Amino acid sequence: MDRRLFVSDLARYAALCAVVPNAWRVTSRPHFADDPFSLGVASGDPTATGGVLWTRLAPRPFEPDGGMDGLRVTVDWEVADDDGFTKVVQKGRATAAPELAFSLHIDVKGLQPDRWYFYRFRTGDAVSQVGRFRTAPADGALTPLSFAFASCQHWEQGLFTAYEHMAREPLDLVAHLGDYIYEYAGNSRALRMHHGLEVRTVDDYRRRYAQYKSDPALQAAHRLCPWVVTWDDHEVDNNYAGLNGENGMESIEQMRTRRAAAYQAWWEHQPVRVPRVQSWADLSITRSISWGALARFWVLDTRQFRDDQACGDGTQPRCDEARDPRRGLLGAPQEKWLVDGLGASRSHWQVLANQVMMGPYDAAAGDEVRTSMDQWSGYPVARDRLLTEIAKRAANRTVVLTGDIHSNWVNELRSDFSRPDRPVVAAEFVGTSIASGGNGGDVPAARLDGMKRENPHLRWYENRRGYVTCKVDDKAWHTDYRSVPFVDKPGAPVVTASRWRVEHGRPGITTV
Ligand SMILES: [Fe+2]
Repeated sequence: MDRRLFVSDLARYAALCAVVPNAWRVTSRPHFADDPFSLGVASGDPTATGGVLWTRLAPRPFEPDGGMDGLRVTVDWEVADDDGFTKVVQKGRATAAPELAFSLHIDVKGLQPDRWYFYRFRTGDAVSQVGRFRTAPADGALTPLSFAFASCQHWEQGLFTAYEHMAREPLDLVAHLGDYIYEYAGNSRALRMHHGLEVRTVDDYRRRYAQYKSDPALQAAHRLCPWVVTWDDHEVDNNYAGLNGENGMESIEQMRTRRAAAYQAWWEHQPVRVPRVQSWADLSITRSISWGALARFWVLDTRQFRDDQACGDGTQPRCDEARDPRRGLLGAPQEKWLVDGLGASRSHWQVLANQVMMGPYDAAAGDEVRTSMDQWSGYPVARDRLLTEIAKRAANRTVVLTGDIHSNWVNELRSDFSRPDRPVVAAEFVGTSIASGGNGGDVPAARLDGMKRENPHLRWYENRRGYVTCKVDDKAWHTDYRSVPFVDKPGAPVVTASRWRVEHGRPGITTV
């Protein structure tokens, strides 16, 4: 090589280095003009000795890279016995990087069982808000549990006032059953508007999560206690099934790409510990969480592995396709994992963190039957197969938690709904939405009576927004439905709309 050419190449290379920051350099003392912790902090998936601590750096959440300008930075985290952090029990340092949207998942281990802790993050001179989390009780302990569950928080349809009330409840845990975001394009006539078009790429989904995570009430509920999060359809696409999109117009390749983007962004924004997989499109979130010996949560995914909705989806009369015994909602491996797990578990209560309603609902009066093809009633053979196994393995100590349909339902689940003489073996509490569907309204008594006549396993139905709290001990399970009368303006109070009790080992659900 000509020496002069080599020198000029070197000079050109040096000039390039001066303007392009080294993509792999990690900055330990970044300076932020805006708060990098604008999306809050969260914790989740508690064990007896730890849990996952989450945050995502996003000083300007709607700009590319969340306003991080491609910078890799170190973030310090601390866990303390007190909220003043005078007794720090663990600390560490992690790197936030653009390929994972500057999210952090710190899987803390080695803590004491059945204890509350405080945590915070720090990068440069920015310090996050303080979150509170707790460990689960030790294996074998029957320590009582107080938790809430929620779902369906369509940003455009209502304020998250329900979370303001939830954040004041004495809770150990929150379970979120999906529809944490909605994928739709912004609607200029909405109460508050989504940024951008329908989300499809990983950057679109990241911006959508950032918009939802910017809500102060949602952030407060995350700071309160650890969450156990699953997803439903809107984290990807309304009513998708496996690799079938909502309208059946996307190719398999398009749906794999979209699912990969959606699942990655979900992981980046939730305080979860899920198994490692080869590709984001195949992310598995099926897992179980134990609360000592009192309760075991089986976190289900009824979207990724289901067969496509039968008979054209929607609410349909009886149709042969739905009754095909090969059709499933969980997919064979997840169904086997759940059934084997229910058999092997010594836990006092078995809790299914589930998405779509398991109890059938016949929407037609008289002899005609019309049921939802998207719910378990669209997969009746798989539903009855699972309930038969629950009857054998965990009868009258299994509680199914459900979201999805933006209304409150209490269902007594029978071991086989194709045979009305079969016994009640489990309870289902369907919780309403945080915001989806807007204010809601009263259900006339005559309508509820008519619904119960068609559906004798139905105990109650209500159409308000809110969340559900559950107090569980070794003798009984208590459920309170917490409702807000409106979500279209701030300041809604919360009321207990109804209260229910399930006795351990006894069939049926009674009012309190
Ligand atoms: Fe929903």
